[in-house]
Amino acid sequence: MDVARNLSELNAALENFDRCGARKVFVPTMGNLHDGHLHLMTEARRYGDGVVASVYVNPMQFGPGEDFESYPRTEKQDLAQLKDCGVDLVFMPDISDIYPREVEAHTTVEVPELGAILCGASRPGHFRGVTTVVNRLFNLVAPQAAVFGKKDYQQWLLIRLMVADLGMPIEVIGVDTVRGADGLALSSRNGYLSEAERAIAPKLYETLGWMAGQISEQGAYAGDFLAGIESQARDRLQGFGFDPDYISVRRQGDLGVPQTGDQEWVILAAAQLGKTRLIDNLEVNLKPSD
Ligand code: PAJ
Repeated sequence: MDVARNLSELNAALENFDRCGARKVFVPTMGNLHDGHLHLMTEARRYGDGVVASVYVNPMQFGPGEDFESYPRTEKQDLAQLKDCGVDLVFMPDISDIYPREVEAHTTVEVPELGAILCGASRPGHFRGVTTVVNRLFNLVAPQAAVFGKKDYQQWLLIRLMVADLGMPIEVIGVDTVRGADGLALSSRNGYLSEAERAIAPKLYETLGWMAGQISEQGAYAGDFLAGIESQARDRLQGFGFDPDYISVRRQGDLGVPQTGDQEWVILAAAQLGKTRLIDNLEVNLKPSD
């Protein structure tokens, strides 16, 4: 496995791929890798000849008071895990490779509307940071395909939109969420949870499952029914000890509010548990009504 720590090392390593016409599949991460990330690497292999991963904690996507400074950095462990799952090249850039001038002075890429709702509403500027860094990484790596986790459902949709809007020749692949045995979605931030919080955390996914059950019973009918389910789910989460940010039933394709007759729905939630912000989602596919 090659490791490129700056742009010239990256370009030298990429030349090897390009010389033999390899189809590059790219998996960007912020490191502190867990089985969710590693599953993306294994999936990536199915879509091309060479898997390129990046590990970079992107300052632009963290808001003031968020955990940029304390975000876990576990380079040695990450490299060993990436090697074990057969990644060909890891790009571990320095801040000056990504933002040659000050972060604040850097050109940004922003997807309006979709980037401003749900997580975008509670974390202003977050998705601008994500699309800006992913755009830069796409330009540096020039992959033919890129793999993202549906754990970050809104992020995955935003990247797909960015690629379509900017006419980037990159296939964007979404991979299902990897969970612990108790249902909790794996996340680097789970490490912030106390033992007591860790025991409560799976209730987030359990609540999404409860909502999915209610929706499936009701069928593809939206209206007031949805608002009722959302508010009951909020109460349940509060009862478990979460401070819910949003819990919302949306359309899969564009995260719009479902209309009666829409069949592909996704329930998305973000909630604070102590100091930790957890997000999760669950797709619900309704059968056409008779
Ligand atoms: P990070 O949180 O490190 O996640 C990297 C990738 O792993 C993302 O595509 C994310 O959706 C995926 N992932 C995380 N947990 C997962 C799980 N339990 N199952 C499946 N996939 C999972 O997302 C980011 O980094 C950053 O915003 C980034 C895109 C790298 C831009 O900085």
